Amino acid sequence: MKQHKIAVIGAGSVYTPELVTEFFRDHGRLVPFDRMALHDINPRRLEIVGGLTQRMARRQGVPAKVTLTTSLAAAVKGADFVITQMRVGGNQARYLDETIPLKHGVVGQETTGPGGLFKALRTIPALVAVAKAIRAHAPRAWMLNFANPSGIVTEGVLKAVPGTRMLGICSAQVGRAWWVSSALGVKPERIRTRSVGLNHLAWIHRVWVDGKEATDRLFKLPDARLRKTGWDPALLRAVRGVPIGYLHYFYQPDEMIRHAKRGGTRAQKVLKIERILLKRYADKTLDVPPEELKLRGGSGYSVTMSTVMAALTGRRSVVVPMNVQSKGRWPGFDHDQVVEIDSRLEPHGVTPLPVSVPHVSEPQMGLTRHVKAYETLTVEAALTGSYTKALAAMVTNPLVPNARVGRKILDEMLRAHRKHLPQFN
Ligand code: G6P
Repeated sequence: MKQHKIAVIGAGSVYTPELVTEFFRDHGRLVPFDRMALHDINPRRLEIVGGLTQRMARRQGVPAKVTLTTSLAAAVKGADFVITQMRVGGNQARYLDETIPLKHGVVGQETTGPGGLFKALRTIPALVAVAKAIRAHAPRAWMLNFANPSGIVTEGVLKAVPGTRMLGICSAQVGRAWWVSSALGVKPERIRTRSVGLNHLAWIHRVWVDGKEATDRLFKLPDARLRKTGWDPALLRAVRGVPIGYLHYFYQPDEMIRHAKRGGTRAQKVLKIERILLKRYADKTLDVPPEELKLRGGSGYSVTMSTVMAALTGRRSVVVPMNVQSKGRWPGFDHDQVVEIDSRLEPHGVTPLPVSVPHVSEPQMGLTRHVKAYETLTVEAALTGSYTKALAAMVTNPLVPNARVGRKILDEMLRAHRKHLPQFN
């Protein structure tokens, strides 16, 4: 059986021990690999997190060689899979993404609103550098991206380095059958779902029970049953879809802003968790991921990534939501615009499934197209460093209330993130 090389870019992330959990299970048999290169630009973080990862591999009898490197070329050379999970500017930059908009009464979140815009501006150039290294040193490799905002950055890379075999991956829809199972009163394994939208902006819009379409039945359920999805039944019927959690930012931004102002930012919490985790990871006797890792949000990363890679290496084909270029699969979007749609993953590649347009409701299509316009402007701003494009993106973001506030936030964030935005200097 072919043995693969896996490279992880941004491996100094405290998530890495979670990411590798599934790969290391059962002596690493799920995705056959004999080399894993862990890369980070921060040697100290790499040594701590990579050290724990190497001890985990030893403990679990994984035969692969796990190496650490700060050279991007060395990491990707000969790789079959390049997993990207970097966070440009670290959680300190995330703190700015979350707090500056909030000061102006706007949602402060790292993937939606102005925070997501700036995370994309910082991340796209870094990912483009990875894609170029892949083109030079491992042109057949899959680039599997976890870095947020996953859909926008995937669009950016595929526009800058066409031909990259890149997929934008996200764990936000893992176990989506569960979201409707208690409303329908049916076990999740009997349910099949389809979703449409963008990354962190998607709805389950079709449901089948035992192979029979049950979408109408779902939305006709009494309020008490529909409420089990966690959403207002009237809203579900109006939008004719079950939204993912991130849509709370669009449907009730005022509540989310109030909540953030009361509870403090996620960045502050994550910075604290990171400090605790790094201290634990540095303990040379530790060879399993510590309990505290569960305090981070990416608990589904390992399962999501290994499912994708197992399908691409021939274990079992799966249909999962992926961020891919629309390429006519969803009419209404340019071929090179990235959307998050169900896609079949098999050894010979990835086939996005065509979206059934009549089943996409106006509220879904309208918001998706609006946010997609903002996302594509963001990509153009990230690739060109154009202030005009960045302002266009900012004022097109539906969470930004008006141009005056948008401009203020833009200028303040451009200043605050200056050192991570060389294309604007
Ligand atoms: C989930 C989302 C990711 C997000 C993460 C945040 O996994 O799908 O897109 O990055 O949560 O977790 P954190 O611990 O960084 O807040």
